[in-house]
Amino acid sequence: MILRFQFLSAFLLLFISSFVSQASAQDTPEARTEPWIQDPASYVNAFIGTVNVGHVFPGATLPHGMIKAGLDTDSPGNHAGYDGDPQYNATGFSQLHDTGTGGSIPLSNFKLWAYASCTSFEKCPSGIVQRKLKRKTRDDGSPDDYASPGYFSTNLTNDIRVELTATRRTALHRYTFPAGTAHPRILVDIANDGQRSATYPQVLIDQVGLESEGGGYQSGRVRGGAEFAASFGPGRYKAYVCVTFKGEGYELGKPTEYGAYSNNYPVRGARNGEQVYLSSGSEHGALLEFIPSPSSAVTSILARVGVSFISTNQACSTAEEEIQDYDFERVKSEARAQWNDVLGRVKVRFGDSAKRTTETERELVEHFYSSLYRTHIAPADYTGENPHWNSTEPYYDSLYCNWDTYRTLYPLMAMHDPVTFSKIIRGMIDIQKHEGWLPECRGATVKHYMQGGSNADPILADFLVKYPPSSSSFSSLGVSPSDLYAALLRDAEDQPPNWNLQGREVDVWKELGYIAQSFASVGGANTKWVSRTLEYAFDDFAIAQVAKVLGKTEDAEKYMKRAQNFLNVWNPDVTVPGGPDFVKGMMQTHAFFTSLKPRFANGTWNHTDPRHCSIHDPEKATCFLNAARRDGFYEASPIVYSQYVPQDSAKLIELQGGAEAFINRLDWIFENLYFDVTNEPSHQMPFMHHYANRPGLSTSRSRKVLEEHFDLTKDGLPGNDDSGAMGSYAAFSLLGMYPLPATRQLLISSSYFPVVEFVNPVYNTTTTFKTTGSGIFVKGVTIDGEPWRSTCFIEWAVFEKGSVVELELSEDESLGCGEGGLPPSISTGGYA
Ligand SMILES: *[C@@H]1O[C@H](CO)[C@@H](O)[C@H](O)[C@H]1NC(C)=O
Ligand SMILES: *[C@@H]1O[C@H](CO)[C@@H](O)[C@H](O)[C@H]1NC(C)=O
Ligand SMILES: *[C@@H]1O[C@H](CO)[C@@H](O)[C@H](O)[C@H]1NC(C)=O
Ligand SMILES: *[C@@H]1O[C@H](CO)[C@@H](O)[C@H](O)[C@H]1NC(C)=O
Ligand SMILES: *[C@@H]1O[C@H](CO)[C@@H](O)[C@H](O)[C@H]1NC(C)=O
Ligand SMILES: *[C@@H]1O[C@H](CO)[C@@H](O)[C@H](O)[C@H]1NC(C)=O
Repeated sequence: MILRFQFLSAFLLLFISSFVSQASAQDTPEARTEPWIQDPASYVNAFIGTVNVGHVFPGATLPHGMIKAGLDTDSPGNHAGYDGDPQYNATGFSQLHDTGTGGSIPLSNFKLWAYASCTSFEKCPSGIVQRKLKRKTRDDGSPDDYASPGYFSTNLTNDIRVELTATRRTALHRYTFPAGTAHPRILVDIANDGQRSATYPQVLIDQVGLESEGGGYQSGRVRGGAEFAASFGPGRYKAYVCVTFKGEGYELGKPTEYGAYSNNYPVRGARNGEQVYLSSGSEHGALLEFIPSPSSAVTSILARVGVSFISTNQACSTAEEEIQDYDFERVKSEARAQWNDVLGRVKVRFGDSAKRTTETERELVEHFYSSLYRTHIAPADYTGENPHWNSTEPYYDSLYCNWDTYRTLYPLMAMHDPVTFSKIIRGMIDIQKHEGWLPECRGATVKHYMQGGSNADPILADFLVKYPPSSSSFSSLGVSPSDLYAALLRDAEDQPPNWNLQGREVDVWKELGYIAQSFASVGGANTKWVSRTLEYAFDDFAIAQVAKVLGKTEDAEKYMKRAQNFLNVWNPDVTVPGGPDFVKGMMQTHAFFTSLKPRFANGTWNHTDPRHCSIHDPEKATCFLNAARRDGFYEASPIVYSQYVPQDSAKLIELQGGAEAFINRLDWIFENLYFDVTNEPSHQMPFMHHYANRPGLSTSRSRKVLEEHFDLTKDGLPGNDDSGAMGSYAAFSLLGMYPLPATRQLLISSSYFPVVEFVNPVYNTTTTFKTTGSGIFVKGVTIDGEPWRSTCFIEWAVFEKGSVVELELSEDESLGCGEGGLPPSISTGGYA
């Protein structure tokens, strides 16, 4: 709480200091020191959102790497393994994770653990409960953990220091034992995945001490695997591991003792050569003991950990390919270089004054790069690890879930990382080709539950409208427009057997133009018919946008029409109990009915209290997938969903009584805490004043949301990071922008940074946003020196061209968007 307050006041200070620095900028042309431009990785605070419910993964990974090596804890919130609260015990260092997710604990597979002082091999506590212990803490009480992009380290209370780094499919661990350790030992845990869901665990200890074939695996090699439960879906997956060891600065030689363990009982191997253990126990793995370094007081042992979703042999061969030399510092610095490459494509600057960076500015930079960093952890590049079919296309997993990420994460990626974006798109299309429908939520190679519609649709559309086939670099990206379009049409036209996992309930959608309560036959506890109606409408809008780009005029018309089906669930008569008169009209459920015409033969709307799922819900209901009360809305109230029509905000204004009533309604929503920053359907709301010609209100509101709900502490996120969705939301808020997915338009406001540069490696352009004047409200915009008609939105063309967009600022909150400057909506002429 105190930290949040400090951060808030830091922002206020910035406004003052930025006015001062603006004034002196003209006099001092000398470039100031902005060290993060060279090394943005050093401004990443990986621990934001690692306590409470952020579930952020702070360990070692490449951008979108499959390996996410990290510390696991016994925290109840260990969805990403880690918990930044030192009261929780460390339980191991596992290789795969997700970030910011809910559901059950995902992917905490194959934990390694080291011992400095067991009294004997058999007495080493191998069980996860018996072995766990706390991390050391610093003087301020924080755990002695450190993280930077591509690297993680911690000191445990048994005096062992653990360091982790990663390539795409291989982790490298370094265990440094306390001085005088006579029997350094390392355990490889095959079964504990975070959920204890393993079946058929298998562990092999190979070639110990065999001198043939070039020495075999002199220092032992542990291979293993098992079948595990998915996190947010009904499926199970198989994963395999291959671990080899090397002494740092000395010849490790063969293990002095080794064997497998079941539960808390290690059993020493009886013979040389290969051992195979099979077990149905919930705790299973291998334990090896090595000689300490003969020459130095401290012993460091490297463990190279390959992981595969195909086979143990593949885990071994990729590990050998990716990290032949066991050179920890090399792997670590190459990982950091990859991070600096991607983070460095968005450069934030404070202008040209020679003034030193203030603490407030430093914090803003830290906030920005930490947020941007979190948008590049998931999805993960599992290319070569898809167990379901062979393909030469990329395979990305940890799409957890598209519902969370389509709004802001992919539009941000489109601006600076189009190559990764194109590979994710190709992977999605390949999934559609083999499974029939585009993926929605996916983790550990299996389908998870739907949250909304088929939300790959707006992601594919966002890519294609920004990188159309007519653009010069399109062919280099390897995306087939016809395959992309076919994949979209499948979602739009063919109902899958289980639309709760992929695709949509389109038969009803096509027949009625909305999802009626009675038609939900599958779909888990909460079948979310109203929110799905709104999502399906947006999905069809996305498809219409693609149809336009591809010159399919009839389809474009058809889907643009379907995009207006949100009107079918608008009930103009509903008000909020105890609420003001001007908040009238809500998205609502249609009750059971049988005949199509007239549409509501017996005139029934079913009523959902608009406060349902909000903090004011008298029934205290939740709208999660397993919600007990089923009222048709997912993870947000009818009040929130009644503002959720990104494709036609102008129509919402009309339905809600015009601009003034709309603004009053938004104010009422914020003031009464119906805006819910923890879930994405609310995210556009601060910027919706743009559509009512009051962009200044958006600026104020969006800054307030950022400053109240996000900060740099471990508790700095309002909820789950949702695979980086919250990170992208915070990044856009800092940049003073909000994207309209599947369009070529971007809502603009003022950034906290006077200069922002986007480097786009596909267009080979740098697009610069600059502010002049004082204040935070946009008064005028020029693009490449020419006046631009709107202060509320800009066109994607500025990124294609590498334009300079100059925003003239003012202290006047009441300014409008300019003549003809309102952002587009379907009902006011549509999208260019
Ligand atoms: C950490 O482990 C110790 C020893 O098993 C246990 O007493 C303690 O409760 C654990 N801490 C938490 C927060 O569970
Ligand atoms: C752990 O201990 C080492 C050696 O004492 C120290 O250099 C390091 O900063 C400590 N913290 C972490 C997180 O590694
Ligand atoms: C992929 O190809 C390999 C090599 O031909 C084969 O062994 C494997 O079974 C194939 N995998 C699938 C899922 O078809
Ligand atoms: C209205 O919704 C409630 C709760 O979901 C349900 O029990 C009821 O059957 C519905 N009524 C009609 C007429 O559809
Ligand atoms: C509406 O009509 C349907 C079909 O005739 C019927 O099942 C349902 O009970 C009717 N609802 C009401 C409230 O009359
Ligand atoms: C990118 O642009 C720069 C400067 O405009 C130019 O020097 C370079 O050759 C271009 N690179 C490519 C790959 O087109």
